[in-house]
Amino acid sequence: MFIFDRGGLTGVDIGSYAAKVVRIKGKGTNRSLEAVGYSRLDQITFPHDSSKLSEMLRNLFNANRIKTKNVRAALSGGSLVLTHLHLPNMPKKDLKEAVRWEMRKQVTFPPEELVCDFTTLGEAKRGEESALSLMAFGAQKKDVEQLMRILEAALLEPVAVDVAPMAMLACFDYNNVWENGVNYSMIDIGDSKSTLAIFKDKKLLFAREIPIAGREITIAVMNKLACSEEIAEREKIRCGIVRSGERDAEVVDVISAVVERLAAEAHRSFDYYQAQFREGGIGKIFLCGGTARLKGIDDFFANILGIPCFTDDPLRNIKIESKRFDAARIREFAPDLAVSVGLAL
Ligand SMILES: Nc1ncnc2c1ncn2[C@@H]1O[C@H](COP(=O)(O)OP(=O)(O)OP(=O)(O)O)[C@@H](O)[C@H]1O
Ligand SMILES: [Mg+2]
Repeated sequence: MFIFDRGGLTGVDIGSYAAKVVRIKGKGTNRSLEAVGYSRLDQITFPHDSSKLSEMLRNLFNANRIKTKNVRAALSGGSLVLTHLHLPNMPKKDLKEAVRWEMRKQVTFPPEELVCDFTTLGEAKRGEESALSLMAFGAQKKDVEQLMRILEAALLEPVAVDVAPMAMLACFDYNNVWENGVNYSMIDIGDSKSTLAIFKDKKLLFAREIPIAGREITIAVMNKLACSEEIAEREKIRCGIVRSGERDAEVVDVISAVVERLAAEAHRSFDYYQAQFREGGIGKIFLCGGTARLKGIDDFFANILGIPCFTDDPLRNIKIESKRFDAARIREFAPDLAVSVGLAL
């Protein structure tokens, strides 16, 4: 666990592998890193060990005296549903009800337990009628309350709860130059899941969670080598998916097989997006999340999907003062911070 701090906004991302806390100060294009905290969860699982999670968060904040309590946190996994809706144009207050009505049909829990929100993507003509295109998010109330309880027990004040794809959009927007009409995909490959988002013209147009990520790779290596999870993870990080002759070939093969399945799921999502939205192809892919640091994963994706692919640096345009931070060390694990940076922005 390590943390550095002075004032600013705080984004909190509790993943299944690690919790990340990021504070950024400044405005507009002049922003700098104020604090960054990272803590492995090890045996702590969300949401079951909520008191341990609160304690860990409190420790993260205390370690370098982060005084401001206001945080923006990400809700992910669990009951979260992300869906695209087309609705007739109507006043905003009616729209809220209409979204709720549509989302109720999509959830597997009792509909009265639904909390939902949406972002408008645009207006489209459908025959004579004008229709609104929306990205809607829904989750079971207890999951949101659980997250709030964890934050409050850590003596924090959750100002907002957001979903990962919106945080990824904020992060992408700050660090990249948008080309008109280009479809970009950002894929956060974490530990238990990957979050795939498609952006165009500064909007989130599609989002989906894929249950394939770093943990599945570690388990595949563990089974192949009949070793502990710790050794398997070390081997995964050491080998990546870069072929270097016969040495390590069996590890590279099992890792490749998992990443290939993930790429196939990404491909399916792109096909669906193109058909559903009558859109062109994806122009560029940006990878983030801890597993984006897997050696060779960007080239592997690019080759399979035939789309330029890059490992994203969520801190590219954010100043890191070398007097206060070990910038090289922070840059090294920057891909893991995409969601927390987006929340802080
Ligand atoms: N250098 C690396 N090479 C390959 N994998 C790595 C590397 N560093 C970290 N990982 C993997 O990244 C994963 C953790 O990533 P991340 O912190 O983004 O997950 P998380 O946000 O906690 O999980 P999730 O979003 O799935 O709930 C782990 O599976 C870890 O083994
Ligand atoms: Mg994550």
